[in-house]
Amino acid sequence: MDSQLDYVSLIRTRRSARSYEHHPLTDADRKDIASAIASAVPLDTAIPLDWKLADRSIMGSSALLYAECGATESELVEYGYRGQQIVLALLARDWGTCWYGLYRLPGSPCSITVGRPATPGLRSALVGAVSRGHTRKSVEQLFPKGIPGDSPPRLLTVLESARLAPSAMNRQAWSFEVLSDTEIAVQGDTGRFPDLGICLANAMASARQLAGASIVKRLGPGRYSVSW
Ligand SMILES: Cc1cc2nc3c(=O)[nH]c(=O)nc-3n(C[C@H](O)[C@H](O)[C@H](O)COP(=O)(O)O)c2cc1C
Repeated sequence: MDSQLDYVSLIRTRRSARSYEHHPLTDADRKDIASAIASAVPLDTAIPLDWKLADRSIMGSSALLYAECGATESELVEYGYRGQQIVLALLARDWGTCWYGLYRLPGSPCSITVGRPATPGLRSALVGAVSRGHTRKSVEQLFPKGIPGDSPPRLLTVLESARLAPSAMNRQAWSFEVLSDTEIAVQGDTGRFPDLGICLANAMASARQLAGASIVKRLGPGRYSVSW
């Protein structure tokens, strides 16, 4: 993680990019992308992820980022957790990205498009509208037990970052619980997508920025906590 980055703002402004400039990657670009990959911290160091760039253009992107990864809950969470940190690091370097479940390179659960973003064209606007990417579930849907009225601003910001996480078809198949002023629980439907790990990465990155440190722990099947 890059301690200089404003993850809270990056998370608030990130959108899936589905239109890109024609931009073949240079050696300098590849180094830039490699440094974004290297900045991601693992949740479980025992799960190796060797991220690669495939020279495949999807929706005009310059490349596809992917890693071989198994399909257990821990592996998918790890894929999303590290992948989303890379997405945020790429965004800070002016790259556009979109998680892509439709393109699964051999052995990977999904890929991430990378390119220099362009003004959205009709096709990208249509896909964005169909997936209703600009919407997020209501607080009532995401917090079945509610949010204590006297919650500190830092807690609310971490929850907002988790809520803004991207997910396949914008399903947002997770719910949140406030465990204390400095700890939240995230319950997610792991399925075949890395959504839960993506959500945890957003919460962890914001908590780390605001509090200087954060810890992510597995509490049980599909249930994790983020504390700071
Ligand atoms: C695991 C995953 C798979 C996705 N697959 C696709 C895809 O195949 N095609 C696509 O256009 N968008 C895909 N998306 C992007 C989501 O539709 C998008 O994140 C969601 O609608 C929220 O919009 P936002 O990212 O702009 O906030 C995927 C996102 C995730 C996290």
